[in-house]
This record gives sequence, structure tokens and C-alpha cells, in this order.
Amino acid sequence: MNKKIRLAIFASGNGSNAEAIMKYFSQHSQIEVVLLLSNNADAFALERARRFTIPTFVFNKAQFRESDEVIRRLNESHVTHLVLAGFLWLLPPNLIEAFPDKIVNIHPSLLPKFGGKGMYGIKVHQAVKAAGETKTGITIHEVNEKYDDGKILLQASCEVLPSDTPESIAAKVNALEYEYFPKTIERWALSSSTPS
Ligand code: GAR
Repeated sequence: MNKKIRLAIFASGNGSNAEAIMKYFSQHSQIEVVLLLSNNADAFALERARRFTIPTFVFNKAQFRESDEVIRRLNESHVTHLVLAGFLWLLPPNLIEAFPDKIVNIHPSLLPKFGGKGMYGIKVHQAVKAAGETKTGITIHEVNEKYDDGKILLQASCEVLPSDTPESIAAKVNALEYEYFPKTIERWALSSSTPS
């Protein structure tokens, strides 16, 4: 019998994507969410995980960047794949090396547009509005040592109307995220895991 794929979600804030993922996999036969990690003790994502009775782990910058503590915690839970769902810190090389090709991120724009350092959340949608774009969307991609780089797994787009505000753009983009992120994780994790 194949072993289950064990996901850990990294989230820095609200956690609405984390929630969509926890819900999608709550009854899944091959994939489960086993841990939610955050750099922010006040992240609402932590509360959402507790509601799903999923263990949580909060870490600070030194633990993340200058130690193996996060990797140790992931190994303790036998995590196989990492999902960045609204996680705002660049991953350190030791973490990327510990999970080669097993880390996925979502970015709320059509990369390479509106990506890079400092581009997250509402800032992305403000930049899209200011640039007068007529469409935007989401990019789901594998993670490497650069911001918003790595192999693209899926892009989906929506219209930006002249009447849209950064907030209404965010709402359209969030809807795409909830629709596509869980099933893209499913397809990616199943295709990248070797049966045992
Ligand atoms: C999401 O829109 C996600 O795409 C974005 O942050 C939001 C988190 O919302 N991520 C980035 O901007 C990464 N560069 P959530 O906490 O409610 O899921």
C-alpha cells in the first residue's frame, strides 16, 4: 500500500488559502495536512488550523534562518511536501535542500508580472490597478531560492475592469486561489511522489 502524502502549510496571516487546503484534504485518501507553521504568533491561520485539529508551530527569524529547528519539526511530523499559502519570508537554503522539488507557492498575480521582494497581498493588487492592467490572476509554482521564481504549475486569470479597486481585484483573485490551489497541489503532489 502507498504511504500518504503529508503536507505542511506555511502561512503568515489570515490563512484563507490554508483553510481551503485543509478543507479539501480533510477526507482525502492519499493526502493529508499534518502541520501548519507560521512566523507570526497572531496569524489567524493558526486559529483556523486549530479548528481542523491540525498541529501548529510558530517560529522566529533566527530559528528559521539560522538553525535546523523548522526542519526538525517537519521531520518529526514526517512531512513530505511543503505548501506556502500566504507565507511572506524567503526560504533559507537548508529548507529548500531538505525538500527538493517538494515545495509549492501561490502568488496573486500572473508572474513574472508583479512578483519579487515586497510584492505580497494587497500591494500586488494596488500595483496591478496602478499599472492599468486589464487582466490579472494567480500563479502556482515550485519554489527555489529566489522570490516568485521556480517552475510554473498553473496560471489562471480574471478581468480587471476600470471600476475595480485593489480590494475588488483581491476578491476575484482569492476566488481563483480557492478554486485552483487545492486541486493543483493534489495533482502536483501525486505526480511528484514515488510510491513505496
Ligand atoms: C494570498 O492572496 C496569496 O496569494 C498571497 O497572500 C494572500 C494570503 O491570503 N501571497 C503572496 O502575496 C505571496 N507573495 P490568505 O492568508 O488569506 O491565504
